[in-house]
Amino acid sequence: MVFDPYTWRKDFPILNRILPNGKPLVYLDNSATTQKPSCVIDAMSRYYSEYNSNVHRAVHTLSSEATDAYEGARKMIADWFGLTDGNLLFTSGTTEAINLVAHSWGRANLSKGDAIVLTEMEHHSDIVPWQMLAEEVGVEIRWVPFDKENFQLDMGAFEISLEGAKLVCCIHTSNVLGIRNPIEEIITLAHNVGARVLIDAAQAAPHDRIGISELGADFVAVSAHKMSGPTGIGALFVNTETLTEMKPFLGGGDMIREVFLDHSTYQEGSFKFEAGTPKIAEAIGWAEAVKWLSNIGFESSHAHSIKLARKVADAFRSIPGMTVLGKQDNADAPLISFIHDTLHAEDMAQMLDAHGIAVRTGHHCAQPLLRSLGLASTNRASFYLYNTEEEADFLIETVQKLIERFS
Ligand SMILES: Cc1ncc(COP(=O)(O)O)c(C=O)c1O
Repeated sequence: MVFDPYTWRKDFPILNRILPNGKPLVYLDNSATTQKPSCVIDAMSRYYSEYNSNVHRAVHTLSSEATDAYEGARKMIADWFGLTDGNLLFTSGTTEAINLVAHSWGRANLSKGDAIVLTEMEHHSDIVPWQMLAEEVGVEIRWVPFDKENFQLDMGAFEISLEGAKLVCCIHTSNVLGIRNPIEEIITLAHNVGARVLIDAAQAAPHDRIGISELGADFVAVSAHKMSGPTGIGALFVNTETLTEMKPFLGGGDMIREVFLDHSTYQEGSFKFEAGTPKIAEAIGWAEAVKWLSNIGFESSHAHSIKLARKVADAFRSIPGMTVLGKQDNADAPLISFIHDTLHAEDMAQMLDAHGIAVRTGHHCAQPLLRSLGLASTNRASFYLYNTEEEADFLIETVQKLIERFS
């Protein structure tokens, strides 16, 4: 079936926006965050205008409505991600999810001299928490490089790095290269040596139906805002065996069973890790997003957006002086990082903005990756299911004209 982005585009009010310079918005910064359909905005607004209340704590009508909606959202999101056996802990996003693992599992299970394995492709959110832990506890961080020509992880180096490792942390799909890593193989190899595995699936969740339980990683981190959901919420999926090895993260209300003057006892399961008033409106909005997404054939929407990315990448590769990263293979994220020899990334982004085109510029929170390629910054155009072929063509034409004129 041919995928028609115009059918779904209508649900996003922001995509009709005319910018202050009079140009229609061409939104190509979807890897940073996607736009939200009206149903998500309306569901959150309905919570605040009709049944705003705290959850889990009171017996009044509003509280039970809010609790039902919040716990219903957890169930709907867990189902969307194919969680048949395990736990969904709400966090503020991928960053908090990984920090939670470093604090709750890392501090309880890693000690001086233990090794953890990271890749050079990681986002800063999967680097800095481990460096903080390394500084505090004295764990060794081993880095897996990637091939600078074909952007594949060096699996030979990965296997060598596994010796005696306690934890492997790997980005599922790179936010700079778009490359989807061989996650299944990585999980199997790591488990064969008894290491736990954390997968940063922030860029996979918008394009790939990740079956969390089938995947079998010990930890998987995602953010709602990259898949049509609201900002401020995400999840850490943890299998039950690993959850029992984790100490609480934040202490406070809702995560306790009983509090005495000299000690406290804790709730079981996810609740032990969700202290304080949770992200109620956000969970409701995220559940609405997955309900909306479930009307869309994920495979055909991804095929559409990767086709746009590939078209742009091919056109850019024929421009003299242009470097285009990644491969835009079928399973990759639909994004293109590009940089021209003579037109600085920041200047390019500003000139594109003058034409209404929103792209990302900078190190994309992946400085080690860019440094390993000898780069400080790139432009990144990233596509989502509502982007159209016209928008891709407009990006190509505009970049070609800018380069002819200014380089
Ligand atoms: C691969 C990857 N990991 C982690 C993050 C951090 O996500 P968040 O800012 O939602 O916590 C991002 C966000 O850009 C990302 O692309």
